[in-house]
Amino acid sequence: MASKQPIGYKCCIAGVLLLLLASVAALVAVAVIQDTWRFKDYSSEYGIVIDSGSSRSNIYLYKWPGEKENETGVVTEQMNCKVAGDDGISEMKVDKEKGAKSMAAFEVCIKKITEAIPAEKHKTTTLFLGATAGMRLLQGLDEQRSSEIMEDVREYLSSLPFVFQNASIISGQEEGLYGWITVNYLMGNLLEKNTWNKYVRPQGEKTVGSMDLGGASTQIAFAVQSNLSGPDYLPVKLYGYPYNVYTHSFLCYGKHEAGRMILDKVVRESSDPNYIPNPCYPKGYIVTFNASYIYDTQCNEKPTNYNPDQQLFFVGTGNSDKCLSMVMRIFDFQTCSSTQCSFNGVEQPPVTGDFMAYAGFFYTSSAIGLEGTSDLDQFKALSTKFCEKNWTVLKEEKPSISEKYLRTYCFSSHYVFTLLADGYKFDKEMWKNINFQKQVKDTSIGWSLGYMLSLSNMIPSEVKEIFPMTDPLFAGLIFLFSALIIITVVLVFIFLIRTCY
Ligand SMILES: *[C@@H]1O[C@H](CO)[C@@H](O)[C@H](O)[C@H]1NC(C)=O
Ligand SMILES: *[C@@H]1O[C@H](CO)[C@@H](O)[C@H](O)[C@H]1NC(C)=O
Ligand SMILES: *[C@@H]1O[C@H](CO)[C@@H](O)[C@H](O)[C@H]1NC(C)=O
Ligand SMILES: *[C@@H]1O[C@H](CO)[C@@H](O)[C@H](O)[C@H]1NC(C)=O
Ligand SMILES: *[C@@H]1O[C@H](CO)[C@@H](O)[C@H](O)[C@H]1NC(C)=O
Repeated sequence: MASKQPIGYKCCIAGVLLLLLASVAALVAVAVIQDTWRFKDYSSEYGIVIDSGSSRSNIYLYKWPGEKENETGVVTEQMNCKVAGDDGISEMKVDKEKGAKSMAAFEVCIKKITEAIPAEKHKTTTLFLGATAGMRLLQGLDEQRSSEIMEDVREYLSSLPFVFQNASIISGQEEGLYGWITVNYLMGNLLEKNTWNKYVRPQGEKTVGSMDLGGASTQIAFAVQSNLSGPDYLPVKLYGYPYNVYTHSFLCYGKHEAGRMILDKVVRESSDPNYIPNPCYPKGYIVTFNASYIYDTQCNEKPTNYNPDQQLFFVGTGNSDKCLSMVMRIFDFQTCSSTQCSFNGVEQPPVTGDFMAYAGFFYTSSAIGLEGTSDLDQFKALSTKFCEKNWTVLKEEKPSISEKYLRTYCFSSHYVFTLLADGYKFDKEMWKNINFQKQVKDTSIGWSLGYMLSLSNMIPSEVKEIFPMTDPLFAGLIFLFSALIIITVVLVFIFLIRTCY
């Protein structure tokens, strides 16, 4: 009898421990898989954003798992359709034929996007359009035409089978802020899941600055200390956390308009319109433009005796130093009435932290052979090297880049360098923190995703505590296993007391 006692005792202990372990394991398993189970039955949701830039429109289709709207990083880009042609919507209504042609190109993209969305989802798919600097410039020039264009656009978009939400001209500041939101949303900087499946602010509250280079404007945005204030500081609250975002948009300093400002300087420097040496065009490249190509914009002052049809003949000289000094001339680095300025008298605090540089920044650095992070001296050396290659060599080396763009990269690499180094004041150390990218997690970086997330309240300013256990089934299971654990523990306790005394 006495010899049997310890065996029964051991069995009991083993049994109880096994039960305890099994309950804990079941509890953990339920907690871990509940997330996957809970959303298994829900299908995807879709949203469309039309980015109407100065040089063209781009249509983005975003997709996310249904019922999971308010998490960070779950919305991804499903498709992206570039509307064919060279004009943004600001060129609509200039002449009938051109208007009809660009409308047809627009419809090709809409058709592709529509086909990519399951038919039963059309009536829940939201649709947004945002027009940027091209339309801002037109609005300043011809308010009537710009509002007519927006009216036409709204009418067309409401006729589509989607939930049309908003079509407006967004301000430069909104553009900068939405770009910043996109970058930080995609990088998961705004919210993260902790071990208990609960959403919390990530450790260190780090955000990444955002720099966008479009055709007609450029934007910088980064989070700064909360005690700074002024017209360029936007206090925002995302998922319950406050951020103070410095953001400024420079109209006319997009790649295309800046290029025209430089051509204007080049033209004024020369006495003969039939032979204008351009240090920013590669050696061996020649081109003729109508004067209107350079001056039909608010960004350049028209010369006296301006004739839009005058022919201007440019001859590339590929002189990197001269090109750089031409580029410098479109900036005013002197005027500043506050402690620190970027340029043209615009106040800007010192840049801090990591930065994502996308759109034109990415295309330019990629053309000179750099992607991702780089070194300031390396960037400068590669810009010089690019400028010094003649046209024959360039065309051979970059067969995939069209002539229209290839001729611009000598100018734009110097432009990007000057803007970042002398304008925003990235020094040798800070330059290493700039990441030249066009995508994060296969999703294009731009203002459009942040715009959709903000306007559809998918990044709410306040969140209720999001507890993982909201589903009754899982709550029940968790309750059951928790109860089992408690009972087991009590049993063990009683057992121990019994054996000890
Ligand atoms: C559309 O968006 C703009 C901001 O981009 C906002 O000011 C405007 O109120 C919105 N309109 C509607 C109808 O939601
Ligand atoms: C903001 O706060 C920092 C310290 O957090 C301080 O050094 C700085 O002087 C303050 N700036 C202003 C404008 O109050
Ligand atoms: C230049 O102007 C002429 C006459 O206005 C026009 O026919 C031609 O298409 C223009 N060329 C360019 C390149 O804009
Ligand atoms: C272009 O540069 C290459 C290499 O530097 C040289 O061999 C070639 O003759 C140049 N072509 C012209 C047209 O200058
Ligand atoms: C989640 O997003 C929806 C819009 O998709 C919004 O109506 C809702 O308030 C958000 N939820 C929370 C907890 O903020």
